[in-house]
Amino acid sequence: MTMRAVVKGIGHYLPERVVPNSELSRSLDTSDAWIRARSGIERRHFAAKGQGTSDLATRAALAALADAGLAARDINAIIVATSTPDLTFPSVATMVQDKIAMTTGFAFDVQAVCAGFVFALSTANAMIIAGQAKRILVIGAETFSQLMDWTDRSTCVLFGDGAGALVLEAQRGDGTKADRGILAADLNSDGRHRNILFVDGGVSTKTVGHLRMEGKEVFRHAVEKLAKTAQRVLERADISDHEIDWIVPHQANIRIIQGIARKMSVPLDRVIITVQDHGNTSAASIPLALSIGQKDGKIKKNDLIVTEAIGGGLAWGSVVLRW
Ligand code: ACO
Repeated sequence: MTMRAVVKGIGHYLPERVVPNSELSRSLDTSDAWIRARSGIERRHFAAKGQGTSDLATRAALAALADAGLAARDINAIIVATSTPDLTFPSVATMVQDKIAMTTGFAFDVQAVCAGFVFALSTANAMIIAGQAKRILVIGAETFSQLMDWTDRSTCVLFGDGAGALVLEAQRGDGTKADRGILAADLNSDGRHRNILFVDGGVSTKTVGHLRMEGKEVFRHAVEKLAKTAQRVLERADISDHEIDWIVPHQANIRIIQGIARKMSVPLDRVIITVQDHGNTSAASIPLALSIGQKDGKIKKNDLIVTEAIGGGLAWGSVVLRW
């Protein structure tokens, strides 16, 4: 008998305001054609003034609870993956805890930038296996629009805001790859590459800062490292490429997504792609893609899914799970 962390419910929230590429090209030296060709992005959502990451996270959390048929009192813990918290502290997770009226259990944030949701999922899985919690809300929520330098066309066209959440529940499995739930995880980071993707401000430098990125370098690392981590996690779970029903990758750039699918010999019609509608929503991108994949009727119970992501740090990793 093995304890497994099984997805019990999922939901997402996207802010109302949709910003098409054409709107950005009015104030920047860019074009819809360039953004689509280089990134695959067509539009993104931006949070309204006064709408914080915790507001987005709360809407996604409530949607996930409704999908699971559970109430806040049924949850033991909240883990929020974010790099754009409302405040330096308290954590977004404790704000969500308050907003959904959950008065017991524990809540904390995880920060691994675009890889944040994979790190949060892996942390929640470990806590469930260790018996520290029976049900955990795992949320990815970001307001990256607040970190953009609106004079830097090479970065500000790429990002968007949003949130996705899922409820993981402890369930007994047989210890085989036929079990539902998380089957394996692989986490990595290498701080030597911290200067190719970072925010040039923070509490101890007394500014909020803006996102800075050497796009070409990040791109090169992304394709190579994501294909490797996906391969490693599949080996760990004793699963071969052809058994995968869906790759649910971090949604940063359609060309990175295509490159990884090619390396893994998985056809693109078995990849969930949402980057065209959301841009890069950092830690929110994977739970958003999972939620939309299920809503569209693509992801079904018992499907075998690989998620993978890379972000600032560099930090990267993957999780394989049976839905
Ligand atoms: N509109 C028009 N032209 C532009 C724009 C724009 N928005 N941005 C850059 N250009 C220009 C450049 O100035 C350059 O012009 P030049 O040749 O005259 O110098 C030209 O377009 C080509 O620029 P490149 O940087 O070479 O374009 P590239 O094909 O590498 O695409 C991109 C850039 C989209 C950023 C790509 O490198 C990429 O996606 N990188 C990875 C990003 C990523 O995956 N991030 C994930 C992690 S994010 C996180 O963790 C927070």
